[in-house]
Amino acid sequence: MQANLTRRSFLKGAALVMSAPALMSLAACGQKTVSWDGQTFKHGFDLDYRPYSYVDDNGQNVGFDVELAQAVCAYYGWEYVPVPFNWDAKDAELSAGSCDCIWSGFTINGREDDYLWSKPYSDNTQMILVLGGSGIAALADLAGKKVGVQTATSAYTLLTDEEGQKELADTFASLEVYENYTVAITDLKAGAVDALAIDVTRANEAIANDSSLALLDEALGSEQYGIGFRKNDTELCDLVNAALDALAVDGTVDAIAQGYPEIAEYLTLGK
Ligand code: ARG
Repeated sequence: MQANLTRRSFLKGAALVMSAPALMSLAACGQKTVSWDGQTFKHGFDLDYRPYSYVDDNGQNVGFDVELAQAVCAYYGWEYVPVPFNWDAKDAELSAGSCDCIWSGFTINGREDDYLWSKPYSDNTQMILVLGGSGIAALADLAGKKVGVQTATSAYTLLTDEEGQKELADTFASLEVYENYTVAITDLKAGAVDALAIDVTRANEAIANDSSLALLDEALGSEQYGIGFRKNDTELCDLVNAALDALAVDGTVDAIAQGYPEIAEYLTLGK
């Protein structure tokens, strides 16, 4: 099957030569191949993940990852199609073909085999965010505390995995799971939770807007961000990698990063 054949034209062609039961069993085996169409770039991202991707108060799709994805599209002349979703829907959206990639402060580590990954473009650290003056100064102080985390994240996996920080998490009074960090941070400020496990880059954005928030010095783990594609979309992945290299060399990446001082030091493209 040619990669560029759309699903609809594939099914039309198949219907001519296959009986209905044969078609049904094909679908049941999950063999349908969803692939990039070669012209539009459907950027799948968390609609609430500052400063990488979010829908702002005017309904605009903005953030570092949104701008960089738009620059990749401009480089090739692709049409940029934003596909904002709740973070826990990402895998369903990608496998259904609603988007062509997951690109939203997306951690590679622990998911190496689940996607076709672009080159890493940023470092990240998982940290603990607290209210300054809360009396929580070290990981050991989290014993008996309520700790929040966003659902379907590498931080959640870290805190629930025996090989990660489950032993630490077992000391918490509870692990509260949030749909997004905006709600989690509101709850932290209101005292509904005592601390959050969060990406340093996301936390820096929150601290820049509210100096009552602070990070513990001790980190939970370190990781890298990449762009996750369907495993069969090697052409798309290769093209995006090549564009990232070119945009690092021609200064586009630095120009975009200037608008995001709270994450710029973590970017690794072209370094
Ligand atoms: N980097 C972490 C992960 O990939 C946190 C994700 C938060 N990113 C997001 N778009 N919600 O799991």
